[in-house]
Amino acid sequence: MCGIVGYIGARDSVELLLKGLESLEYRGYDSAGIAVFDGSDIAVRKEKGRLAVLREILKDSPVSGNIGIGHTRWATHGVPSAKNSHPHLNNKNDIAVVHNGIIENHEALKKFLQEKGYTFISETDTEVIPNLIDYYYEGDLLKAVQKATKKLDGSYAIGVVAKAEPDKIVAVRKDSPLIVGLTDDGNFIASDIPAILAETRDVYLLNDGEFVTLKKDSVTLCDVDGNPINKEVYKVQFSAQASQKEGYDHFMLKEIHEQPQAIRNTLRGRLDKDLNLSLDNIKFSDDIKKLYIVACGTAYHAGLVGKKAIETLAGLPCEVCLASEFRYGEPLIDDTTAVLVVSQSGETADTLAVLRMAKKLGNKVYAITNVVGSSVAREADYVFYTYAGPEIAVASTKAYTTQLVAFYLFALSLAEQKKKVSQTQIDDIKNQLLKMDEVASSVFDKTEQIKALAEKIAGEHDVYFLGRGLDYIVAMEASLKLKEISYIHSDAYASGELKHGPIALIEDGTVVISICTNPDISNKLSSNVKEVLARGAKTIGFTSCLSDTAAYGDVLELPQIDPLLAPLPAIIPLQMLAYYVCTAKGFDVDKPRNLAKSVTVE
Ligand code: G6P
Repeated sequence: MCGIVGYIGARDSVELLLKGLESLEYRGYDSAGIAVFDGSDIAVRKEKGRLAVLREILKDSPVSGNIGIGHTRWATHGVPSAKNSHPHLNNKNDIAVVHNGIIENHEALKKFLQEKGYTFISETDTEVIPNLIDYYYEGDLLKAVQKATKKLDGSYAIGVVAKAEPDKIVAVRKDSPLIVGLTDDGNFIASDIPAILAETRDVYLLNDGEFVTLKKDSVTLCDVDGNPINKEVYKVQFSAQASQKEGYDHFMLKEIHEQPQAIRNTLRGRLDKDLNLSLDNIKFSDDIKKLYIVACGTAYHAGLVGKKAIETLAGLPCEVCLASEFRYGEPLIDDTTAVLVVSQSGETADTLAVLRMAKKLGNKVYAITNVVGSSVAREADYVFYTYAGPEIAVASTKAYTTQLVAFYLFALSLAEQKKKVSQTQIDDIKNQLLKMDEVASSVFDKTEQIKALAEKIAGEHDVYFLGRGLDYIVAMEASLKLKEISYIHSDAYASGELKHGPIALIEDGTVVISICTNPDISNKLSSNVKEVLARGAKTIGFTSCLSDTAAYGDVLELPQIDPLLAPLPAIIPLQMLAYYVCTAKGFDVDKPRNLAKSVTVE
């Protein structure tokens, strides 16, 4: 997803912009560019491809200056290309803009500007912005940006520099993250905290509609009408080092191995060894008769596990919905319902839209998120942080398992409130949850076996996953992980559905991975495995309870744990499997093609 960095101060801006953009690389991008005021003009360098390409261009055609803005683009309007890359200029080449988000009325604005004589060279929605600012410019950049944004529909985080006012950067956000970083020798804007962590921990977290004017030794904030805004400096807690790989080959592997610690972090202060449970003052009124759990991607899978945990332990009916579907559906929201959004980043556009929609309809919104100060965190009525630490790899691992822990805590807390199951049963789950970090760690002993399995399937074109009940959800998440980073076509099926279609895909040598953690239904899965074996499938079992494993080609033993909690340890070896298949194929683990870490546009 797009990244923004801007700097004004005593130092040369170019390296600071590049370094900042590099630390946002994890968000995913396809082109990069910078605009720097070089003392007489705004010099722009931009190109399709990685930041390394931009660095090469800068070697041949260097620029320097104390004020600049930079951008990494993830194409939405127009293909990845130099002309579609940011920064974009106005026709006179004296106003430059970087933009994250989407301007929904850009066609109408383009027509309006064309009628005034403006021309356009890119296919982007963004190019209307510098020209609109130019149209309104009467010697005051801030005022021109304010007037221009009044005309914009959609989402944006914008950074602007103008040749006529080379002492400032003007920036504003609406529905797209933007922060300000403060240092003694200059100030930054950035779309995300890691971009400025090497330079400072003092930041302003901007809200929608807040305009900021950065000068080399001052930062002022105001609203669209110029009314001043006072803001407290927020001290970032995590270190720059926490955003580095710490000796692992890839962020994904590091994050897989951080799971035991991340689980402890999620539990800390919420569940103690005396089994006291507290949910950060989050309350569920007894009037709530149904919970909508809404999320995207991996977080959606966490929601599916959450539904089972909450329904089993607390008897509160839950419906799990994809945010992109929910927002355009007609959900039956009323004062007996509540909405729980789940989002690692807290910035996913569809999830955020659902949060706002639910609030507008008068529902209480609960949020499970990993990013402190994210839009979801700031706008929800109740926030539960997973405290997994920054997750850099696009494929989510520790964010997912900590979301599961969060759901188990929600389910346990609701269980105590609803008294549907006995305290003994609740305490048993609590005790097992407290040992979850050790259970998760035990999976790492299987690394060599997982690597060997990965070698076996790295050459496959298709891999199918089977499971029943919660194991089906594990299968869905495992399949997502594998396809995301290894580009192997893969699907997950509820094993009972096999006969209703998927079995037609099985032929000699087809790889079928089955997951089985629930002894009550293991014989059902066994029958399904036999059906695919009879049709020539190569089967691999990830199981803690299949008895007749002799029939399988390969079996990986999963830890013994209550079936309700089993999705957590079960997914870890499957994350590792996806990782080692990806490395065996030599692909870019942390930045898989076409994917973005944080999807801040629809
Ligand atoms: C993207 C990421 C996924 C993530 C999903 C939802 O697709 O690549 O890993 O699960 O967005 O993100 P969120 O930040 O809302 O959990």
